Order: sequence, then structure tokens, then C-alpha cells
Amino acid sequence: MKEATLRVFRGDSKGGQTVDYRVPIAPGMVVLDALHYIQGHLAPDLAVRWNCKAGKCGSCSAEVNGRPRLTCKTRMDDLPVDQPIIVLPMKSFPRIKDLVTDVSWNYRVNRKIPAFEPRPGVEWKISQLDVDRVQEFRKCIECFLCQNVCHVLRGTEVCPEEIRITDNAIIPLKERVVDEFYDPLTMLFRKFRGDKVQSL
Ligand code: FES
Repeated sequence: MKEATLRVFRGDSKGGQTVDYRVPIAPGMVVLDALHYIQGHLAPDLAVRWNCKAGKCGSCSAEVNGRPRLTCKTRMDDLPVDQPIIVLPMKSFPRIKDLVTDVSWNYRVNRKIPAFEPRPGVEWKISQLDVDRVQEFRKCIECFLCQNVCHVLRGTEVCPEEIRITDNAIIPLKERVVDEFYDPLTMLFRKFRGDKVQSL
């Protein structure tokens, strides 16, 4: 049977090193299967986070050959097996153990975002365009792969749900901030009216 070498990070927040494991490759196998083989046969203490194995829970994120990916969606036959396949934890988050990182910062930030509340006495109408625009981001599976790259260049490329993060989220948000807080005419008008600057 064909085999591959997986070069997997072993360690924790204090440090560590990569360790090579030989894994037999079965048809249809993904990197997460190979990691499970290592857990089952070679290193039972290997820490790997996963849940659905279907690209939906976002928990199996790692760097495979230098690219942020879901290990459950990365097929072994798409990778060159004549050289070690390097599997590392995501770099942008603190390491807990082996491939498991601490992504709790995202949930803390999420809790700080206030829920939308319509101003009293104002009739709010939501157009279909706005509904469609929000719908795209509801596909997010919280794998946080986009935070493991420079989002201005490649946020979109690594997203398993193909959300156009840069074009449809980051740039419009930045434009909104600039319009609201740094547009000279708006600033002048606000000063003239004595308005206080409110956070978004
Ligand atoms: S295990 Fe759920 S996305 Fe990979």
C-alpha cells in the first residue's frame, strides 16, 4: 500500500518540534484521516481538534504544507506524497497542544458586539439586497482560517465557504468607518451641529 510521511508539530505553548509519522494511504483519504491513523496506531496522545469531518464545524483548521486548510477537506491525493506533508497548528492563535490552538479570543470579541436594535419610533425597512448581503456571512463556519493569512491579500482564497471576505466585508466596513469618522465634510458638519461622535 502507498505510504506518506506526515511531519506533524508536537508541542505546546512553551515550544516543540515536528515529528515524522509514516501513514498508509487509502483511497479517498483526507489529512484528518491520516492524523486519526497516527492517533490510533502511532501516537495516541496527539492532540487534534475535530468534530463533523464534513467541512461544517470549522474545528479541524491547521496549516498543511504552509497553507491554512480544513484537514477534513484536504485530500491526500491532492498532496505530493514523495516528500513529507507538513502539518502545523494555525500560527495566528496561541498553541494549546500539538495542532490545537486557543481561538477563544474570537468568541470574546463576538460577545462585545452589541445586537442590532432599531431606534424607537423609526420604521426600518430591509431591502432584499441587504438580506442577500448579510446571508453571505452567515455561511461562516468559524474555522478562522482567514485570520491565519493576510486578509487583504488572501482572506477570500482560504475560506472553505468561498465568502468574499475582503471585497464584501472588510473593504465596505473600512469605507463605512472612514465616511463616518474621517470624512472632512462630515467632521465639519458634525462640529457645526455640536454632534458627539458615536461608535459604530
Ligand atoms: S471536522 Fe468539522 S470542519 Fe473539519
